[in-house]
Amino acid sequence: MKKIILLSALMLTSLSSVAQSVTLRPDNIDEVLSQLTLKEKASLVVGAGYKSMLAGTFGFKVPVPGAAGMTRAVPRLGIPSIILSDGPAGVRIEPKRKRTDQTFYCTGFPIGSLLSSTWNPQLVEKVGGAIGEEALAYGVDVMLAPGMNLQRNPLCGRNFEYYSEDPLLSGRIAAAYVRGIQAQGVGACVKHFAVNNQETNRFWNDARVDKETLKTLYLKNFEYAVREAQPWTVMASYNRLNGIHTQEDKWLLTEVLRDDWGFEGLVMTDWTGRRNTAAQIEAGCDLMEPGVKSQIRELVRKVRRGELSEAALDVCVRRVLELVVKTPTFKGHKPTNAPDLKAHADIAREAAEEGIVLLENRAETLPLAAGTRIALFGNGSYALLAGGTGSGHVHRPYVVNLDEGLTHEGFAVSRDLSTRYKDYMAENRPRKKFLSGMLGSPAIPEMPLSREVVTAAAGQADCAVVTISRQAGEGGDRHLEDDFLLSETEKQMLADVCEVFHGQGKKVVVVLNVGGVVETASWKQLPDAIVLAWQPGQEGGDALASILSGRVCPSGRLPVTFPVDYFDLPSSAHFPYDYVGRGSMTAGRDKEKDVENVGFTDYAEGLDVGYRYFQKSGTPEVSYPFGYGLSYTTFQHSGPVVAGNAVTVSVKNTGSVAGKEVVMIMTPLLRAFGKTRLLQPGESVTLVLPIVTE
Ligand code: BGC
Repeated sequence: MKKIILLSALMLTSLSSVAQSVTLRPDNIDEVLSQLTLKEKASLVVGAGYKSMLAGTFGFKVPVPGAAGMTRAVPRLGIPSIILSDGPAGVRIEPKRKRTDQTFYCTGFPIGSLLSSTWNPQLVEKVGGAIGEEALAYGVDVMLAPGMNLQRNPLCGRNFEYYSEDPLLSGRIAAAYVRGIQAQGVGACVKHFAVNNQETNRFWNDARVDKETLKTLYLKNFEYAVREAQPWTVMASYNRLNGIHTQEDKWLLTEVLRDDWGFEGLVMTDWTGRRNTAAQIEAGCDLMEPGVKSQIRELVRKVRRGELSEAALDVCVRRVLELVVKTPTFKGHKPTNAPDLKAHADIAREAAEEGIVLLENRAETLPLAAGTRIALFGNGSYALLAGGTGSGHVHRPYVVNLDEGLTHEGFAVSRDLSTRYKDYMAENRPRKKFLSGMLGSPAIPEMPLSREVVTAAAGQADCAVVTISRQAGEGGDRHLEDDFLLSETEKQMLADVCEVFHGQGKKVVVVLNVGGVVETASWKQLPDAIVLAWQPGQEGGDALASILSGRVCPSGRLPVTFPVDYFDLPSSAHFPYDYVGRGSMTAGRDKEKDVENVGFTDYAEGLDVGYRYFQKSGTPEVSYPFGYGLSYTTFQHSGPVVAGNAVTVSVKNTGSVAGKEVVMIMTPLLRAFGKTRLLQPGESVTLVLPIVTE
């Protein structure tokens, strides 16, 4: 009897505590905040570590293996942990998991530079929508994308993730991508805020930029994205800006981002949160990623000692909670793990087809006639680089190579050459390194060709297609030799193929399968046509083949200037291009040396970036200007007529094949842009485009 009384008393107590306990809801954040202990508060602003990122390698048990990070949960108050995953060319999670045969592949979309080359925000929004759908299906709450630093200098190793040298194009494309993701109820994260324009010494580099240049260029694109799309989150960059680490910079994160631009979301660090914890909180950096436990202890200690005000911590905690209540996880969404990969592949292909840029087309070399027999040169023809390496690498189910795409399109691809390349690549496959499965592998050095091989191939083909590929990625910048410039092997290949094929009256087409700008001026006269494919995502081979066959009329335009000479770029005098040094995994460990060697980058060229510089009189010629791109048809524009905040332009297809046209209003800076729908020959359309006046 005694026992029963005791038991019911216990039950009553626990029932009453249940009745009193609070569970997080969108409308009771204040109440939940008031119930959190100091330690719980600190834990909410510190991510849950590297566990999810390394789950595939070490077999940790986490909800979404391969996701970049998670926040910490407080179960007693109904606060779940939410999942953050990279981008930007698709969702980056582990494709395989222990104890199941099911796969978790994600669509590999084209890289950022290709998306901006579409000049088509509606299409980019569709890409964002597909990525958002995939994130939702796989249980991801926030996509760490888009990457949107300005392409200040071609050697930045992560330019492939970014959009343009121009802030309006960059900002509007980013805004479209963000809208697409967030329409699915998943958050976006614009990164890396700000002035993260190089990878060399990236954890410590101090970007020294004057206020006007900052406002006009390096912050402006973020401003457009924030004002036009209100991303749920922003990621601070690794670097310092004018002496202060951006994640500790109150001016940047609070005065500019929030007070001036009206940003309402959460700011997180990039993946080394271990800086001054109190300074970050006070600056308005709400979440330290990936997070280590010692940061929680440190925050608690600092509040107790009066070195950090609890009120400042509360502001950040509140923003974490505001983010959490918006997420699919909080709303009880159960991952289906079954996104529509087929539908998304179609979107990836559509985007690739619109972002491929036709740079040269002498004597109407392209499109190739049906049934053309093609000798396909270059490793990249058989192992197309779909995207870059590092956190921007996506585990896609497959990549359609160019030889496959051309075959699908009905062309005959030389067998002998194909066998030779495939054997070479099988023999030279890079050895798997630690994390290479996770982050992607480097490209195989170009196969040297003998003159005999080229001659034999020419005997069996009507034309040659030569692919030149470049791989770049997070943690290292590109180099001048053998990267921006063609390598000796590539030059030889191009010279031999052109000489032999031209000698037989046959055409040569070059495909540039690159993440960023390469030198073109010294060799562009050699081939008959040049197609800039960028890194076109998993459907690249098919997309390229439809451009080469003419089934799709090229409509991409350059989002960045191709200079004649690297040293024509004013930024070249202030970019650590000859710094052969530590990459992401090691930079910063040798901190003193790094700081001493390349401790800062002076943005002394100011506004002289890209076309802003080259359109001034007396500046060098460029190889291909910003906005450049050829088509298989012709267009006539009428207008523009400016009325209020909009500009009206009519476009007529005056050629003989259907095509899309990009409209750019430059006065002389880019003020508005848009793209037509597919116009049949003779068809017209009127575009009304929002114009910026400042
Ligand atoms: C990159 C970020 C990425 C993060 C998480 C960092 O090294 O700079 O772009 O989102 O890792 O993977």
